[in-house]
Amino acid sequence: MGEKTVYQHLRDEGLSRRDFMKFCVIVSGMMGLELVPGVKAFGASASRDGARMVADALMSKPRLPLIWLELQDCAGCTEAISRSQSPSLVNLVLNKIAVDYQETLMAAAGFQAEQTKRDSMKKYHGQYVLVVEGSPTIGADGVYCTVGGRSNLDILREAADGAMAIIATGNCATFGGIPRARPNPTEARGVSEIIKDKPIVNIPGCPAIPEVTTGTIAYVLVMGKLPKTDALLRPVTFYGHTIHDHCLRRPFYEAGKFAESFDGEGAREGECLYKLGCKGPTTYNACSSLKWMQGLSFPVQSGHPCLGCSEPRFWDGGGFYQGQSAPLIRPTIAAAGIAAGAGAALGIALAGADQVRKSKAGKPEPSPDKERPE
Ligand code: SF4
Ligand code: F3S
Repeated sequence: MGEKTVYQHLRDEGLSRRDFMKFCVIVSGMMGLELVPGVKAFGASASRDGARMVADALMSKPRLPLIWLELQDCAGCTEAISRSQSPSLVNLVLNKIAVDYQETLMAAAGFQAEQTKRDSMKKYHGQYVLVVEGSPTIGADGVYCTVGGRSNLDILREAADGAMAIIATGNCATFGGIPRARPNPTEARGVSEIIKDKPIVNIPGCPAIPEVTTGTIAYVLVMGKLPKTDALLRPVTFYGHTIHDHCLRRPFYEAGKFAESFDGEGAREGECLYKLGCKGPTTYNACSSLKWMQGLSFPVQSGHPCLGCSEPRFWDGGGFYQGQSAPLIRPTIAAAGIAAGAGAALGIALAGADQVRKSKAGKPEPSPDKERPE
């Protein structure tokens, strides 16, 4: 008898056929739906075609196991996922059907956990998906981060060798994150700077938005390949726009109304936080459209400037809360922008986002390492 399909696993877990179809609709929505012509990003209106496509895949394919490594990290991305409001059906798939090894969440520990990982990597060599959280560290041959007496570089290279694809989640795994902040004593790096011979998708953020990580994992599990990415290997579905593009304070920006202090009336009334250091115009992430906590809010909505936590080297990139005296993008609509709402903001020259736009067009940004010696 062949391997059980994902659908058979789900039925064994007690999922009804009706709930399975519900699950397929949710997953097709989470996947962002570049696979379904005409359905827009974030899949709020996932079509029946998308759900059918997901159902067909799950009913015909065996499960793809996940191996989840944690390197130099704070486990914040894992914490975010475990506390997220992701649909419970999706959690069922990730926790019970897909994940074979996850240090923080798995019940096993020590030798037992390591043996589980080895068994899974051997059995599914060339088939499993490797998720990496935390930065690899190359200083002193990786000795600054060891698990079970082995250096993180050994562990990463071994796990990457048998993976069909790698998902790097969080700013640490994608770009080096906070461990890479000057003076970077451990010589932290992003996974894609170490592993060069495997398909990699980057899900940056500090932490990464849980629904973006689970949506990308769902895409790979269902489609058996990585989603379309930009020059920094980020899925375009979730990283195709800046925070500024969909920010609810944007009409105030266009009207030239900027909050002068965090505790002032202007900030409370929704004025733009640009002069308080907001990096939304140059930060690519889905916070302002997907939001956090099941669409409840995101930093800028809650009154805090975007710190650019999903961009390379955000910790060293010019300081936090440093207001700009003049807007990065010149307001052109003035008060009419407020009347017309956020949608009126289109067509503005995004002068300050030039560098990022170039990277979208296929030219990677210059390596920050070359610009700023550590
Ligand atoms: Fe929103 Fe920041 Fe852009 Fe202002 S600068 S509109 S607060 S993202
Ligand atoms: Fe990070 Fe900015 Fe979103 S700080 S969480 S990318 S609003």
